[in-house]
Order: sequence, then structure tokens, then C-alpha cells
Amino acid sequence: MRIDIVSLFPEFVEQCAGFGVTGRARERGLLSLHGWNPRDHADGNYRKVDDRTFGGGPGMVMLVEPLRRCLQAMRADDPRPAHVAYLTPQGRRLDQARVRELAALPRLALLCGRYEGIDERLVQAEVDEEISLGDYVLSGGELAAAVVVDAVARLQEGALNDAGSAEQDSFEDGLLDCPHFSHPVEHAYGTVPEVLRSGNHAAIARWRRQQALVRTWQRRPDLLQGRVLSAADRRLLDEGLQPPATDPVA
Ligand code: ADE
Repeated sequence: MRIDIVSLFPEFVEQCAGFGVTGRARERGLLSLHGWNPRDHADGNYRKVDDRTFGGGPGMVMLVEPLRRCLQAMRADDPRPAHVAYLTPQGRRLDQARVRELAALPRLALLCGRYEGIDERLVQAEVDEEISLGDYVLSGGELAAAVVVDAVARLQEGALNDAGSAEQDSFEDGLLDCPHFSHPVEHAYGTVPEVLRSGNHAAIARWRRQQALVRTWQRRPDLLQGRVLSAADRRLLDEGLQPPATDPVA
């Protein structure tokens, strides 16, 4: 997959994507990143990329023309059409289902705004989709772009050392992930649940499913809204929500 980063600081995103799973995906040739800076396509000695907002008010707006030329150069660099996503708090909230769809694209371009944003005419003419990370404001789209690159990179076939681990992630089947434990079994902070040490794979899978259902119910009930649970899942959830049996009072 190819990802183009259109930004006043494309190196920021490229550096973020140099470590761990993303770095490895790039080394393995599963993902290529290409940075494009609108300042390289701006006019004059000052290479101006922003100006005041019409109608008055604070803040600057990124100009149409440097961005238009930058996108033109980006598109000309590869014949594959690029799906252009603009990172902005006005966009649709990103979720794992959309990440999966983006990860399946041959080419994605991430457009990063700074200041008050980008001239709306450029957005209307060039952008296919607006993506938000959540209901808060970052000082630019670069951190959000780095998040998208990471989430998409780990879904590229061969990026994770254990092919099964992406399927076990939170949200992959609309639920939060179950808790995980490692050595030592006994610690001052607690003991690893017995079932996980039992070697009984069916019991382990059942426990994990129950934990995922209970966590989702308790922490993110919105994820379960409008979802019809299977009878088996409902039973697991009901059972998991029961208070633990206490010893009868002597
Ligand atoms: N740019 C600034 N804030 C953002 C957000 N919340 N999501 C995506 N891009 C942004």
C-alpha cells in the first residue's frame, strides 16, 4: 500500500512511522510513505501558504493554490488514483471498521491542516473524505495522520509477526479486548486467573469471550447498542455480570 502525506511537516509523520510495526511494514515493502509539502509549491520569496480568514476573526487559513499544486504533483507521481482524506475535527469519527476499509486501498493520501484549517474550496474540490480522531482539537493534522498510518499499517498482510493478533484486537468483532496476563503467576498485585493456566482451550476461549462482553457492557455500552447478541453471548454476559458467589454466612 502507498500512503502520501500532504503536510507542512511531512517528516513528522514519516518519523512517527519509523518505529515498531509501522517501521517493519515499511522495511518489508508492505507500505510506502511519501511526503509532500505545500510550501514547495508556494509563490514568492516567503513561500506563503496561509492568509487571514475572510469575514474576520482570529487565525489563518491554508491557501488553495499551494495545496492544489502540491496535490497535483502528488497525483502525477503515481498513476494509481489516490483516495484523499483530510484530517479534521469536522470529519467522521474514525473507527476500526473504517480503518479496515482504508487499509484495503492501494493508495491513500492524508491531507493535514494547520492553523484554522484549509480553504473550503480546496476541500470541496479535492477531498474524498474527512476524518476526525475524536471530539478534541489538535494543533494540526499530523498527529492524526500518524495515527491513521499506524492503524492501517498493522493491518497490512505480513506486518504483524503473529497473523492472528490483529483478529484478537479490540473492536475487530465490535467488542473491547479481554484482559491479558503474563509471568509471574503470583505477584503482590494479584494472581493470573486459573482458567488461563488450565490448558483447556475451550474454557479459555469462553472466559475471554465473557470478559470481552462484560468489559464492553461496562465500559462502552454504546458499542452494544442496536446489536443483537447470540443466545450464547447473552448467557455469557448475564453470567459474567452476576456478583461473585460469597460464602454463606456462618
Ligand atoms: N486536526 C485537529 N484536530 C483533529 C482531530 N480531532 N482529528 C483529526 N484531525 C484533527
